[in-house]
Amino acid sequence: MAEKSYNYLHIFTLLMLLSPLANSLKNHDRLKLATPPPLPILPLPSFSQLKWQQREIIMFLHFGVNTFTDSEWGTGLESPSVFYPTGLDPTQWAHTAARAGISLMILTAKHHDGFCLWPSKYTDHSVVRSPWNNGNGDVVREFVDAAKAHGIDAGLYLSPWDRHDTRYGHVELYNEYYLAQLQELLTRYGGVREIWFDGAKGANATNMTYYFNDWFSMVKELQSTINIFSDAGPDIRWVGNEKGYAGSTCWSTINATSLSIGNATILDYLNTGDPKGTNWLPAECDVSIRPGWFWHKSQAPKKLSELLEIYYKSVGRNCLLLLNVPPNTTGLISESDVQRLSQLRRAIDTIFTSNSAVKCSVEASSPRGGENGNFGPENVLDEDHLWTYWAPSENEKKDYWIEFRAKSSGIKFNVIRIQEAIGLGQRIKKHEIYVDGIRVAKGSTVGYKRLHRLKMGVVHGNSVRIKIVKAKGIPLISSVGFYFDPFWKPK
Ligand SMILES: *[C@@H]1O[C@H](CO)[C@@H](O)[C@H](O)[C@H]1NC(C)=O
Ligand SMILES: *[C@@H]1O[C@H](CO)[C@@H](O)[C@H](O)[C@H]1NC(C)=O
Ligand SMILES: *[C@@H]1O[C@H](CO)[C@@H](O)[C@H](O)[C@H]1NC(C)=O
Ligand SMILES: *[C@@H]1O[C@H](CO)[C@@H](O)[C@H](O)[C@H]1NC(C)=O
Ligand SMILES: *[C@@H]1O[C@H](CO)[C@@H](O)[C@H](O)[C@H]1NC(C)=O
Repeated sequence: MAEKSYNYLHIFTLLMLLSPLANSLKNHDRLKLATPPPLPILPLPSFSQLKWQQREIIMFLHFGVNTFTDSEWGTGLESPSVFYPTGLDPTQWAHTAARAGISLMILTAKHHDGFCLWPSKYTDHSVVRSPWNNGNGDVVREFVDAAKAHGIDAGLYLSPWDRHDTRYGHVELYNEYYLAQLQELLTRYGGVREIWFDGAKGANATNMTYYFNDWFSMVKELQSTINIFSDAGPDIRWVGNEKGYAGSTCWSTINATSLSIGNATILDYLNTGDPKGTNWLPAECDVSIRPGWFWHKSQAPKKLSELLEIYYKSVGRNCLLLLNVPPNTTGLISESDVQRLSQLRRAIDTIFTSNSAVKCSVEASSPRGGENGNFGPENVLDEDHLWTYWAPSENEKKDYWIEFRAKSSGIKFNVIRIQEAIGLGQRIKKHEIYVDGIRVAKGSTVGYKRLHRLKMGVVHGNSVRIKIVKAKGIPLISSVGFYFDPFWKPK
């Protein structure tokens, strides 16, 4: 009995609730309720991964005893007295980075030789035994302070392989030592946005098991918005080479369970990612502006054309470019590198300042939510490259396209930029670009940013159509641009 009266009450309540609902349904047209965004396709980037992705170019600084001994891998036997920069000025590093539009700098706090650029409590193989500042200096401190003063975020590298410390090879002792140093670096210097781990190790190095899980847990405990980089993530993955080139297919998704640190059999997998991958683990492309990672008097920076090639094959393939710019023995970034970096920035700005797509009218195969929805093709022409986008109707199952028509005088370009709304997952598997019906470029993945330099050089036409040939679910395009790159000379 009690149950039945409850049911009557329930129905009554429901009717009470429905009458305003019925009214609101009648008002639907007048209120123009928005069509919600489509469901995401997992996996998705984390908040910190999305912030990272938008940085595009970040800077590595290899600096330490190797700078003074003209080597790449120190032996660990170097005397701390060799570390003697006569005019160290991290403000010059930060100024150089800021002028190049770089928002994150990563310093080698300790390289394989074991020499520490900060006064660690757990070793004296550090700046405390260097004549620099009479042993009272702290390069990490000066580095983070200079970065912050220029609005640049700081990142650190602490080499797992340590050729100096006698605890290396004694698994527990060394892991304790390493964790203690991590705690110093992640508690003394304020916010750290990226930390870099690798499995680099000489062929005959002492055997050593690193407690990566302990390290990563400690890092996340001490710095909540940090991204951890390694061959295997957990936040950022290595691209699989030190040339700065991502695969022409490059998914931000991959199966983390198939990855391990220092494993040579996974390089191709790292380079392309995995369309079926269950983890969001985008790739970072590390490369040095010079042949070596450390400064050597005999070396010079790469040519602008080489750096642009790297830019198109990293940033232009859905990745971040981590460009190493090593300070010299004075403790400054060499003038030739400063010049080359600002040349690179000027070149990128020259290429990407004038987008001829914004002078076009734009149409698409269909818009989600109808003509008056919020997902029309005009969204690809605004300044937002993540959260406003063109979405086709769910009813449309194939032949997705978006087309740009010149309002006058045609469209002339040799570079096209396409961006996906990756906040809802990376989706596009295959795409093609047509100018007046003739195919001028094609590719597989798009991701956060895909740049095509046209192999045929400059094209001139009245319409440009991007066809999405294959995608996981409906494709979501957040931005498109057509540009003229005066440095591009196809062979
Ligand atoms: C490793 O040791 C072997 C045998 O002693 C030697 O031939 C080789 O050159 C060493 N390799 C390195 C990288 O030191
Ligand atoms: C490290 O361990 C492996 C496997 O146990 C062994 O084959 C190798 O010789 C060891 N290397 C050194 C330098 O001790
Ligand atoms: C290297 O990766 C492959 C593929 O995931 C895996 O089968 C293998 O066990 C890994 N090797 C090591 C030493 O972790
Ligand atoms: C990655 O994981 C997914 C889901 O488990 C699986 O379908 C896919 O085959 C895996 N990729 C590889 C290369 O094993
Ligand atoms: C290091 O770079 C600075 C600034 O470009 C320059 O003045 C200095 O001479 C360089 N030092 C060496 C040893 O080349």
